[in-house]
This record gives sequence, C-alpha cells and structure tokens, in this order.
Amino acid sequence: MATYLIDLSPSDMQRRLGDALAVYVDAMRYPRGTEDQRASMWLEHTRRPGWKAVAAVQLGDSDGVDDGGRPLSDAELATAPMLGIAYGYCGAPDQWWQQQVVSGLQRIGADRMRIAELMSSYFELTELHIDPRAQGRGLGEALARRLLGDRTEAYVLLSTPEISGEANRAWRLYRRLGFTDVIRGYHFAGDPRAFAILGRALPL
Ligand SMILES: CC(C)(COP(=O)(O)OP(=O)(O)OC[C@H]1O[C@@H](n2cnc3c(N)ncnc32)[C@H](O)[C@@H]1OP(=O)(O)O)[C@@H](O)C(=O)NCCC(=O)NCCS
Repeated sequence: MATYLIDLSPSDMQRRLGDALAVYVDAMRYPRGTEDQRASMWLEHTRRPGWKAVAAVQLGDSDGVDDGGRPLSDAELATAPMLGIAYGYCGAPDQWWQQQVVSGLQRIGADRMRIAELMSSYFELTELHIDPRAQGRGLGEALARRLLGDRTEAYVLLSTPEISGEANRAWRLYRRLGFTDVIRGYHFAGDPRAFAILGRALPL
C-alpha cells in the first residue's frame, strides 16, 4: 500500500464529504451521526476566501493498482480510500470563530495592537484528522505542511481541546511544528470543553 497526499478542490470536497467526515468522526471518536450535523458547515467552509483542503489517500496492490512506476491518474487518486483530511481558510471578522477568539483575547487583556496584528492576516487551520489506523506515521505532519506550505497570511491559528500535560498526538504535533500559546483554557460559546488557541508565524 502506498499513501499519497492530494489537494482537494471545493467540488472534490463536496464529492468526498462522506469520506472526509468519516475520518473526522473516527479520529475524534465522536458518536456516529456527528457527520450529519457537520456536513453543511464543512460545505459552507469551502466557499470561504482562501479555503484550501488536502487529503491523504491510499492506493496499492490490494486495489489492483500498480504503484510501482506507472504514474497514477488524477481519477485514481480522486477515488482512492481516504486516510486523512485537513483544511482551513483565511480568517475574517464576520466569522464566529474570529469573534470568539477576539473576545478571548480581550478577556486575557491582550492590547488592541496585538489583537489587530493577529486578526488582520491569519489562516485558520480548521480541521486536521488522520484515520486511527494510520495515526503515528507522520501523516498528520505531512498534511499540515502541505496545507500551510504556500500560505501568504502572516499567521496560522487553530484551536484544540485542552489535555492534561498536553499528552496527545495533536499537542505533540503542534508543539513540534512551533505553535505557541495564544489563549489557554478558553471556552467557546455553547461548548463546555476547554480549548487552547495556538498559533505561529507563517511561512511554516
Ligand atoms: C493529531 C493527528 C492529526 C496527528 O497525526 P498523526 O499522523 O497521528 O501524527 P504525526 O504526523 O504528528 O506523527 C507523529 C508520530 O509519527 C511518527 N512519525 C513521524 N514521522 C514519521 C515517519 N516519516 N515515518 C514513520 N513514523 C513517523 C512519530 O514518531 C510520531 O510518533 P508518536 O506520536 O508515537 O511519538 C492525528 O493523531 C489525529 O487525527 N488525532 C485525532 C484527532 C485530532 O486530535 N485531531 C486534531 C484536533 S485539533
């Protein structure tokens, strides 16, 4: 089996939304049915300025595909089983997430210059998930690098659930990639869980 990283267009995402959401639900260990609640939001995100998505797909002998030299066609890659998904878009003031982050920054006493600097040019890394059977092989890092490699924004920001001791793969990955704390222990409206907002300057 060989793994390939591919870019997804908005129509690819629309076509493969079920696969991408299945990776997300399995990776996050959310209950089945969460996909249905998220589908319309993920599609709406594809229309936001600066949206970009990348996927990890798997092709190999068991699919009857020769990956030993013959270039794979776009059609083969576009239908190959999906192992990972990552996407994001350019942050903007009309987005709920930015409004939440701004109010969190105000609450911790960040000054207006700092808030304006962060908010005026950032890419929101919205989702990054690897199928549990494919985790721990460096695929998450590879997807993050592909997603962030050619961005023109000044910063990348993300939110991730707080975990005691930062002891999970997501935290290890973000720290390894140089993400630092923007806000810790933040509660988004309507969510009882505590989140960290992390960020770093671009380019990665
Ligand atoms: C977080 C997540 C995306 C990270 O992706 P990943 O592919 O599992 O992990 P990474 O790319 O960071 O790879 C790290 C591991 O791969 C190993 N690795 C790195 N490069 C490698 C390579 N070239 N070959 C083999 N292994 C490699 C590292 O040793 C490391 O192992 P360790 O975590 O056991 O120490 C993924 O684990 C996941 O989907 N988790 C659940 C959902 C989630 O938390 N998403 C983020 C929400 S904010």
